[in-house]
Formats: sequence, C-alpha cells, structure tokens
Amino acid sequence: MRRCSVVAIFNWPPMARCQLVLLLLLCIAGAVLASGADGRKPIGVYELKKGNFSVKVTNLGAILMSVVLPDSKGNLADVVLGKDTIAEYVNDTSYFGPVAGRVAQRISRGRFVLDGKVYHLYRNDGRNTLHSGGRQFVKSIWEVKEYVCGGDSPYITLYHYSFDGEQGFPGAVDVYVTYRLSSPYTLGVHMNATALDKATPVNLLSHTYWNLGGHGSGDVLGHTLKLFASRHLVLDKELLPSSGRVEPVAGTPLDFRTPTPIGARIRQASGGQVVGYDANFIVDGEGMRPVAVARDGASGRALELWANQATVQVYTANWLNNTKGKDGKVYNQYAGFTLETMGYVDAVNHPEFPSQTLRPGQKYKHDMVLKFSF
Ligand SMILES: *[C@@H]1O[C@H](CO)[C@@H](O)[C@H](O)[C@H]1NC(C)=O
Ligand SMILES: *[C@@H]1O[C@H](CO)[C@@H](O)[C@H](O)[C@H]1NC(C)=O
Ligand SMILES: *[C@@H]1O[C@H](CO)[C@@H](O)[C@H](O)[C@H]1NC(C)=O
Ligand SMILES: *[C@@H]1O[C@H](CO)[C@@H](O)[C@H](O)[C@H]1NC(C)=O
Repeated sequence: MRRCSVVAIFNWPPMARCQLVLLLLLCIAGAVLASGADGRKPIGVYELKKGNFSVKVTNLGAILMSVVLPDSKGNLADVVLGKDTIAEYVNDTSYFGPVAGRVAQRISRGRFVLDGKVYHLYRNDGRNTLHSGGRQFVKSIWEVKEYVCGGDSPYITLYHYSFDGEQGFPGAVDVYVTYRLSSPYTLGVHMNATALDKATPVNLLSHTYWNLGGHGSGDVLGHTLKLFASRHLVLDKELLPSSGRVEPVAGTPLDFRTPTPIGARIRQASGGQVVGYDANFIVDGEGMRPVAVARDGASGRALELWANQATVQVYTANWLNNTKGKDGKVYNQYAGFTLETMGYVDAVNHPEFPSQTLRPGQKYKHDMVLKFSF
C-alpha cells in the first residue's frame, strides 16, 4: 500500500511546519487536519508523482507550484515559475500559478449589469478590475477534497465555496479544480463551477508561467509558439476589448499560426503600458481542441495544450523585473509565458460576446490538457 505524505502543512498565518502521513491510497487531507489557531483551514503542499514526472500543488489559491520532467538528455527540470514558500505566495502580486476567478482577466471600470442590477467590484488595476479584485480566489484557502499522490493517475481535487457577495458577485458558487497526471507526461487541469442560488458570471483561468528550459533559465524569447488561432480580440491600452472588435491575426505580430519564436516580433507587440505580449486570441473551432504548442529548442521540451475554451490570453511576463523566484533564481522580463484559456475578456460588459452568465443549477466546465514531450 502506498502512502501519501503532504510535503508541508502551514497553519494560518503560515509559520508552523509539520509532516503528515495519511494512511490509504485515498487521502482526504482537508477533513483530517486540525484547523489553524484562528480557525482557518491549514495550507498544504501536495505532490503528485508518476515516475520522473511530478507536480506540486498548494491549496492556497489552488496554485500549481511546480511541474518537473526530463529533457531530451535526461536532465530533470521544473518548468513552472514560482516561489519557495507559502508566505511568499501570499504576498505575490504576479499571479504565479493560481486559478483566478470568479471572473478572471479584466472587467471594465469594475462594474457590470446583470438582469438589470448593477454590481461593483474592487478596482485593483487602475480604474478596472483584474482577476476579480478584492478577496481573490488566488488568496483563498481551498479545501482538499481528494488526494491520490501516486499510481497510474495521481490527482488532487480542491474546492472553494464562493459565497453570495464574495468579491461583489451575486450568488453562491461551488468551484472545483482537479489536477491529474496521466501517461505519457500529461497534466489535466479540470475546473468546474455551479451557481447555487442566483445568476452570476463565471470565467476561471489557470495562470501558470511556463519556461520549458527550466524556471530561472533565462527568457523564453527563443521558444517557438504555435497558436491554433486565426483571430484575436482587439485590446486597448488598458488591455480591455473596448471596441468589441475581433480581427484576423494575419499580417500582425500576433500571427502564430505557424511555429514562430516568441521573441521574433515581441518589440512590435503592445502589452498595454509595456512592450511584450498580453494578447487575447480566439481559438479556432469549438469543444476540446488544440490551442497551442510551445517548444524550447535547447532542452527539446515541448508543451501541447488542448482546451475547451473560446479564447487564450498569452502573456510574456512583461512585468517581472528582478523578481525573487524559487531555488534562489531571479526572474526578469520575458522569463516565462502563460497560456490562459478562458472565455472572452470582459464579456460581462459585451453582450455581443458569448455569455458567461451561469443561472442557478447551471454548470461551468473548463478542461485543459497539457501534453509534455522532450
Ligand atoms: C523517465 O521515466 C521513464 C519511464 O520510466 C524512463 O523510460 C526514462 O528513462 C526516465 N528518464 C529519466 C531522465 O529519468
Ligand atoms: C510580505 O509582505 C509584508 C508586508 O509588505 C512583509 O512585511 C513581509 O516580510 C513579506 N513576506 C515575505 C515572505 O516576503
Ligand atoms: C466538478 O468536479 C468535481 C471534482 O472532480 C466532481 O466531483 C464534480 O462532479 C464536478 N461537477 C460537475 C458539475 O462537473
Ligand atoms: C526594472 O526595475 C528597475 C528598477 O526599479 C527599473 O529601472 C527598470 O526600468 C525596470 N525594468 C523594466 C523592464 O520594467
């Protein structure tokens, strides 16, 4: 019988550290652990391991902390940017690895109207709201529902109860995220949400920064990227789709229909106030389908992303600048890239975009499959 041990448990505030060994293959950690001194849920670091492929997850913000896999020469590396300690994740403002919601990305002027009622959110991005502002999912302590650390298909399921009025949104919502490893070198990220009592918008995303050469190995400008996207959502200086326009990528620095180095045209890419990609692409087709393929020539590692979402926001870590990362590494501009599959940006303020409104009892389902190779 295999035992799952939680790598570390931190009570709130993150200080005490102890190791916990749970019997049985299925470890229902959250239920077993005593809660912190002030009654809040403890924070743990959970490892999923399948041979030389492993990931670490924490229930703080449902953060994907690391993904370790070999390269073409057999060297293992962690291809996810992150922090060493939970305390640093608590302070982090760069969104290293969390699930963002209830409505991720930007909401114009931090307001929207639903069924004739005006809702106001906390504005944390100039006069707009980013990743839902205030009490963010990314700083919430999620409940560990299930944890299977090894075997053929290790997984962890995290749960967040988003109460009526949380962040300013109407109605309570059940939110689940499952991270699951499968063969060969495949990571599934499955998010779902159910509106419990009122209509509310829901749009989740996973905000992981990748560097296939290994985190802290330099910039990703030499990685090639292919996007299955022939159109993009036009974003303004505030990174909002104010015009509502969707335009072809052809003839622009956003044309990644054939594999192109991320750095090839990045100087012509406007990421709002800074140079770099922070762009939203409309993924061709519908349903579960290929979104992107990224490849690092030096290590030979590649990542192929499939998802069932309408768009993908690609961000090239434009704001990282001497940012302290894991293992003594320092991250600078373009040290990683994100592939944030999601619905249309600011759909709550654009009736012409596909709706993100979930009515009571309705379910939101977001599936991502990341296939690594080397
Ligand atoms: C990783 O594990 C696979 C399957 O067990 C094995 O074939 C391969 O040699 C391992 N690679 C490294 C770098 O350990
Ligand atoms: C987090 O931020 C607080 C306030 O700025 C600071 O006092 C503390 O040292 C920071 N903690 C870490 C681990 O960076
Ligand atoms: C959401 O995910 C959880 C955990 O995987 C699962 O138990 C539940 O059935 C899912 N709900 C829906 C509506 O798909
Ligand atoms: C990084 O920070 C330094 C010091 O604050 C600043 O001078 C520099 O312009 C910044 N670089 C970028 C790319 O933002």
